[in-house]
Formats: sequence, structure tokens, C-alpha cells
Amino acid sequence: MNPLVTPGIESLKPYEAGKPIEELARELGVTDAIKVASNENPLGPSPKALQAVQLALASCHRYPDAATYRLRQALSEHHGLQMAEVLPGNGSNELLELLLRTFTTPADHVVFGEPAFVVYKLAAIAQGTPFTGVPLKDHVHDLPAMAAAVRPNTKLLFVANPNNPTGTHVPRAALERLLRDVPPEVIIVLDEAYMEYVEAPDYADGLSLRHLRERLIVLRTFSKIYGLAALRVGWAGGPAHLLDYVNRVRAPFNVNSLGQVAAIAALDDVEHVTRSRESNRRGRARLAAALSELGLAQAPSQTNFIWADLWRPGRQVYEALLRKGVIVRPFGDSTFVRITVGTDAEVDRVIGALREVLG
Ligand SMILES: Cc1ncc(COP(=O)(O)O)c(C=O)c1O
Repeated sequence: MNPLVTPGIESLKPYEAGKPIEELARELGVTDAIKVASNENPLGPSPKALQAVQLALASCHRYPDAATYRLRQALSEHHGLQMAEVLPGNGSNELLELLLRTFTTPADHVVFGEPAFVVYKLAAIAQGTPFTGVPLKDHVHDLPAMAAAVRPNTKLLFVANPNNPTGTHVPRAALERLLRDVPPEVIIVLDEAYMEYVEAPDYADGLSLRHLRERLIVLRTFSKIYGLAALRVGWAGGPAHLLDYVNRVRAPFNVNSLGQVAAIAALDDVEHVTRSRESNRRGRARLAAALSELGLAQAPSQTNFIWADLWRPGRQVYEALLRKGVIVRPFGDSTFVRITVGTDAEVDRVIGALREVLG
């Protein structure tokens, strides 16, 4: 008998999203919960983006611009790219899936770090593409080991920089070596969802390294510092001929019209980005200090979240924090949880709850 689905899809477990506040209210009756589980911007969207959305709402009986012309124009001007070198998607998540679908078959192979953003693995499994998950070293992508994992049939190599869930970055020199050393046929994907938060002086963003390698695709998102997670806008920057293939595979109206206008407005709202970065820097320092005081280990974060080792099953602490109305993100059976940096008040609340549960 023909199997109903492929073995990959049979084995897939759905993406585990951060628990919504409403769900916690329904399940435990906690009414004043805070969510620090999904690395969203706690300050909210840019006011300019909100205004643009309000104006655009009246036209939501129209299909969006399938070619995302104005958004591509804004992004290309902002980043010094050609318009054909920019391809927006329904969140960078969709672009990750499209990359797998466009460039790989079950005869190919992809490489990513572990743990890294779990969608690399989910998309590979769904597509039936074999993969190698290369363990991180001290919570940082082990780029030499990733380069060594490349095989003759490797099509894609993903590096989240900085990484989710660990929050760490790879330094410029190691990244440059990877871009030079991996065989030129392999498409290296630098997933830079959190790059706007980075402060490390040895960080290099992918767009500034395009001269080192032709097959390089950089992914960015409006879901994090720009505060537009619900509107689902991300984009890929890379060689026009590669993005042209991805563009053939995508659904016709993959980026909705509210997202398109919001992203254009948010891109120009430098004040909102600066305020968000400063708030994050402040909150992250306080959260990091509190975790240290509690005797917990943490990876050095360049992002808007912290990867903390609780030295005991993370899920137990997660459950205890839920009862105090604090939603963090557990990871399987590990002793780690990922905590997003909230507003100043939310950071206070998280620290208080952690002290009660762990102190
Ligand atoms: C590293 C990384 N890449 C991509 C994404 C996907 O973001 P979005 O689809 O909202 O653009 C996330 C979201 O958490 C992420 O952490």
C-alpha cells in the first residue's frame, strides 16, 4: 500500500511555539501573565508602522502587491542592494522553507548547528533532505566542524548569527574563513534575525561580506527589533539568479499588504530601533546579573534573550514560573530555558519569579 505521507512527514513533530498568554489564562486562570518566550520586541511596533497599517486597512479587500515592489525598493535603498537582490517572504521562516524546497531534494544534504533555529531541521525533514546537525562548542557555532561536515552533495549550510536559542555570535575572522573555505557550490545562508541587537565589535553582518562568496544568502526579519512579528515579514538578500529561483517557488501573495507598508515605515523609524536596542541592553544586563547571582550559567548573549542553564530540568522550572504568570521557553528535556528580555517592569517580574522559584 502507498504510504499516506513521506517518512519525513510521518516523523515530524510540529514547531513548539512560546505559550500564548491567553492559553495560560485558560489553563491556569493566571490573568496577569507576561510572555518572555518568543523574542518579540516588548516595546511593541514602531508607531510609524502602526499608522501605515491603519491607513492600509481600508484597502484590505485588494490583494497585496505580489511583487512587493515598494518594500523591495525601500530595502534595496536602505542596504545598498539591487532590487533583484532582495526577496521578501512571509517571515524569514517562509524563506527558510522555500530555500529547502527550491534547492534540495532527498538526494542532497544540508548542514546546520545544533541547537540552532529549529526550523532548519523541520524544513529539511519535511522536504526529505538528509542533514547533519553539528553540535555547538561552548554554545557557539563550531564553524570548522560545520565546514568539515560538508559533503559533495551538500546544497545549503545555515548559520544563525547570532544564534537562537543560545544568543551567541561567531566572530568575523571565523565567519570569513567559512565563507572562503566551503566549496563554492554550497549556498551559505546567514540567518541574521537578531543582528540589530548585536554590540560585539568582532561581529560582521553578512551583507558586508558578500564580496567573499557568490553563493551567500542573508536572511533578515521585521519580527524582532522592528516589532512586527504578527505581520510576518522577512527578507532574503543575495545573488539575483539564486533569488529568482526562490521567487518561482513562493506563493503569489506571500507577503500581506499590511506587513508590506508596516515594514517600509518601520525601516525608517530609527528612533524606535534605537530605543528598542537601549531598552534591551539595559534589561539584558539586569537579567544576566540576576541569573549570575542565582548561581546559574548563561551563554554570552548578543540578542534580546538569554540562554540559561538552571542545573535542573528546565521544564520543571518553566511550569513553576507559569504558575507565577511568567512564560519562558523550555527546550525538551534539557536543563536550559530561553528567557526573552522584556520591558523594565517585565524584567523585574522575571527576576522576582526566578528568585522565588530557584532561590
Ligand atoms: C534565528 C531565527 N531565524 C528566523 C526566525 C523566524 O522569524 P520570522 O519568521 O518571524 O521572520 C526566528 C524566529 O524566532 C529566529 O530566531
